[in-house]
Amino acid sequence: MRKILITGAAGFVGRHLTKRFLDMGDEVHAVDSIVPLTGGIDPYKGWPLFCPFDYSNFHFYMEDCREYFKRVKDQDFDYCFHLAAVVGGRIMIENNPIAVAEDLSIDASFWRWLVETRPAKIVYFSSSAAYPIKLQERNNYCLLREDMIDFNKDIGVPDMTYGWAKLTGEYLAHLAFQKHGLKSVIYRPFSGYGEDQDNAYPFPSICKRALANEDKSVLTVWGTGNQMRDFIHIEDCVDGVLQTMDIIDNADAVNLSTGIYTSFKKFARLAAEVCGYCPEVIGLSDKPSGVFARAGDTMKQKKLGFIYKIDLRSGIERGIDFYYRK
Ligand SMILES: NC(=O)c1ccc[n+]([C@@H]2O[C@H](COP(=O)([O-])OP(=O)(O)OC[C@H]3O[C@@H](n4cnc5c(N)ncnc54)[C@H](O)[C@@H]3O)[C@@H](O)[C@H]2O)c1
Repeated sequence: MRKILITGAAGFVGRHLTKRFLDMGDEVHAVDSIVPLTGGIDPYKGWPLFCPFDYSNFHFYMEDCREYFKRVKDQDFDYCFHLAAVVGGRIMIENNPIAVAEDLSIDASFWRWLVETRPAKIVYFSSSAAYPIKLQERNNYCLLREDMIDFNKDIGVPDMTYGWAKLTGEYLAHLAFQKHGLKSVIYRPFSGYGEDQDNAYPFPSICKRALANEDKSVLTVWGTGNQMRDFIHIEDCVDGVLQTMDIIDNADAVNLSTGIYTSFKKFARLAAEVCGYCPEVIGLSDKPSGVFARAGDTMKQKKLGFIYKIDLRSGIERGIDFYYRK
């Protein structure tokens, strides 16, 4: 039985990661203060897909991880997963950048605590938002490769305060390895999705809209609708982490991606198709759309032995089925 800390465990990624470790019989210490406007869900009010309190190996601390770090100095964690962050969807990232800058403080506390407590392994969740936005423009985009962030060369401008915080968190991981010998691996998830994700994200909102408009000839999406993302199912993200986390110790980064660009319009057409109709899809210009094209190269994941399994259509089918039954 491994002793595992997961900060931000009540969030979307955290709930899925928590379940996997609980099922494997590991001792999970889950810390989350259920911050408003994030995807955090209070486990005492019920998580959508399972009840963590059914497991005797689940320990929940409803507190800000910075307070937990002041209070708890356990030196026997086998893994520390750091997911706690103020994220929210695109509206939060674009309209509330100073609130999102909180992540700088959360990450600084995390890395300081690690220097004191020295767990065997640290897993830091960065983001595809850390990549330079100049590589994601309409007339200049490419599959984002892990070495396109290189702290020994010029660093490009990442996506808003969210991207800056993640880039800084990655830099701290490198320093913690070099100066303190702390072993870590960094993940850069692209657009992770799943049926229990917060409505602020494209996956639930597009699927639910497709379901609610079955008798209409028009379906709307945010922005121009031509913006493209790399959608990867949350179960694939978790598989990717579990299959590769022990291979890297030196704060090297790994994408969690499929390498496939899907526009929001294409996504909405697919969702409508799964519901059995074929509407015209149009963009809502008053809603933010973010960068034009963001997808992650998969070469390094493949070399490490991981490849995603769930294609987007199957993921949408699961989602539509889940929302239909609710
Ligand atoms: N979901 C994705 O596709 C995706 C993509 C890129 C990066 N990430 C990263 O993965 C991590 C998890 O993302 P998510 O989608 O689950 O987000 P989420 O919003 O669902 O979860 C974040 C959790 O962190 C908690 N939290 C925030 N501040 C805290 C604090 N000070 N102390 C304790 N808990 C705190 C929130 O309450 C929430 O439960 C984040 O670091 C995010 O940046 C996720």
